[in-house]
Amino acid sequence: MDHSNTSRQTIVIDCDPGQDDAIAILLALGAHEALDVRAITTVSGNVPVEITQRNACIVRDWAGKTATLPVYAGCSRPLAREPFTAADVHGESGLEGLELHEPLAPVAGQHAVDWLVEMLSAAVPASVTICAIGPLTNIATALLQAPQICASVREIVLMGGAYFQRGNATPVAEFNLYVDPDAAEIVFSSDVPIVVLPRDAAVNAPITPARIAPIRAIGNRCGNVVADLMEAILAFNVRRRGLAEAPMYDPLTIGYLIDPSLFGGRAVNVVIETAGKWTLGETVVDWTGRTGRTINAKWINEVDADSFYTMLCEKIRNLP
Ligand code: RIB
Ligand code: CA
Repeated sequence: MDHSNTSRQTIVIDCDPGQDDAIAILLALGAHEALDVRAITTVSGNVPVEITQRNACIVRDWAGKTATLPVYAGCSRPLAREPFTAADVHGESGLEGLELHEPLAPVAGQHAVDWLVEMLSAAVPASVTICAIGPLTNIATALLQAPQICASVREIVLMGGAYFQRGNATPVAEFNLYVDPDAAEIVFSSDVPIVVLPRDAAVNAPITPARIAPIRAIGNRCGNVVADLMEAILAFNVRRRGLAEAPMYDPLTIGYLIDPSLFGGRAVNVVIETAGKWTLGETVVDWTGRTGRTINAKWINEVDADSFYTMLCEKIRNLP
């Protein structure tokens, strides 16, 4: 399969591992011909940042990148709201379904936000893609501290939001944007090009037993890790919804970066509800342009799911 990508992209993955975050990181590291992963930055989200940072270090160990891929720990709570985690989904460890080792090396000493500001301030214009797959607290804090870094960001490709689909944190809000809606408002108001992989896309590329089997069959360590994580996600959905399929969230952002031709959507205006008593964190998408508000995002709602899973299998095969 030709994943049409004209040049290797420099990316930073900002995440809250998290079972699906871990799959996304491994997919990115397996796509080394397309993606140069400069660093992983972690944030409080699915589980507290002390755990997300540990899990990011564990994932890089599995990929054999301990010595070459820095992990920076970031914000421990949302900009203004109380922390809200998803340990009921991902387990207290954040990587339910896996046996975890002690990380082979520690996180870097610098705070993730300080590293993002320093790195982006020195980068050439439009040269770094940020793949944001947790609450947007780190990204918003960096933008507040150093607005000039916008010039160095090629685009932000993020997992978050819901429009055609209902929410998963509340009836109307998706988890990442619900945890820190104030951060999301800052990012969506930043004029940085944004591509959104919302629940609308995730639900259209579900994890199923048939899609786990080829990954399990690869037989390498990372293939078994990804299959174990997908099985754990599936098991949660069977318990919670009685359905043997589950939305594929974070890895779709990496799939988009590797081969955007597998995805479809529309340029729209998105605003974030930051005050609603019942609608906090909702993404209000002007799908038909009726408001006349400025276009600020590409909203992805279509995905060639079979081709994505073929890609996932192909890239995981490149890992230990
Ligand atoms: O709503 C799904 C998102 O919330 C994913 O990023 C998942 O990891 C959780 O953080
Ligand atoms: Ca996540």
